[in-house]
Amino acid sequence: MSALPAPFVTRDARELDLDAITELERRSFPVPWKRDYFAVEVGAPHRFNRVVRDGRGELAGYVFCVFAGGEVHVNKIAVSERWRRTGIASHLMREVLQLAQTVEAVDIYLEVRVSNLAARNFYERLGFSQAGRRTSYYLDGEDALVMVLNLDAPRPVRQTRGGVRTLLRR
Ligand SMILES: CC(C)(COP(=O)(O)OP(=O)(O)OC[C@H]1O[C@@H](n2cnc3c(N)ncnc32)[C@H](O)[C@@H]1OP(=O)(O)O)[C@@H](O)C(=O)NCCC(=O)NCCS
Repeated sequence: MSALPAPFVTRDARELDLDAITELERRSFPVPWKRDYFAVEVGAPHRFNRVVRDGRGELAGYVFCVFAGGEVHVNKIAVSERWRRTGIASHLMREVLQLAQTVEAVDIYLEVRVSNLAARNFYERLGFSQAGRRTSYYLDGEDALVMVLNLDAPRPVRQTRGGVRTLLRR
């Protein structure tokens, strides 16, 4: 797996991470997942659930994925406000890409709110493209865009600004 420089630590999500994940989730999403949802995912089969802890041991970010049938689905990704725009989410998505290659997945899918321009830009920079739209997908009625990264398609390799940034590349 790819690594962030010390003092960041990336590892599988555990039960002891659930309180911090739930708190960051609550700050990051209009309709957050409940703690129980994450608890079911941690340790379930065909899951790829990772957390990044910073030098103080605080949660810097997480990603929750499920993989099956040649697809990886990114259910959740969030980064703590103090670490945004430092490459943490790019690092987590690089790990997701490595997982996809390991399980020989063809596509990585996810849904994103139409209004979430930050996340849409983030995914587009990683090479994701719009594959569809789900009307009233979220509980508050907002539509979702379905975005996909086809692993057989060529993807751009981008220059970075340094820091802890790592980007997807084949
Ligand atoms: C979206 C999110 C996960 C990005 O995490 P991050 O660690 O800040 O992302 P990175 O630092 O790896 O960003 C990589 C690139 O994505 C794009 N990007 C990231 N955040 C952006 C923003 N707020 N506005 C515009 N572009 C953004 C930029 O191109 C950025 O590169 P740059 O900093 O050199 O310009 C984070 O903003 C977040 O947790 N948001 C709340 C939860 C959320 O919306 N999750 C996605 C749900 S689908």
